[in-house]
Amino acid sequence: MNQTDLVFQSYGRCCRKDDFFVDFYDFFMSSSDVIRNRFVDTDMAAQRHLLRNGVMQLILVARGMSDRKLRDLGESHNRSNYNIDPGWYDLWLNSLLKTVRLHDPEYTPDLGEAWRDVLRPGIDLIRGAY
Ligand code: HEM
Repeated sequence: MNQTDLVFQSYGRCCRKDDFFVDFYDFFMSSSDVIRNRFVDTDMAAQRHLLRNGVMQLILVARGMSDRKLRDLGESHNRSNYNIDPGWYDLWLNSLLKTVRLHDPEYTPDLGEAWRDVLRPGIDLIRGAY
């Protein structure tokens, strides 16, 4: 099985429990007060649903789907809108990997590397739109 299929299946196992996204935002917000402050006025239940879809978009683009929705995320996150510092995406990815390790019963270090490799181009697209 190729890397994108492995990650697609891993994400399916992670998404079986809503806790995945609760834990992700706990890790992500704990990584810096600057990050936590960005979500003080956010409806986190809605945000967790939006992120569920956002991560799926990153994986689907790696599987060859159109990147139109990622370009929209690049626009919403750029300096004129949410103004998300390009350096914060490393915190985002590290938090996601911590959450995958916690939730996927079939996690291995190789699978963690596959996640990083598969998501990198999509993350670079969003970050690059800064
Ligand atoms: C909103 C995905 C990275 C902060 C959103 C939304 C999605 C999303 C799907 C909702 C749709 C929208 O408003 O455009 C992603 C993905 C990321 C990422 C896939 C990584 C590749 C980050 C990072 C931060 C961040 C690093 C840093 C703090 C926010 C904020 C909102 C948001 C503040 C708006 C929340 C609100 O409506 O109150 N993100 N995001 N995102 N994201 Fe991200």
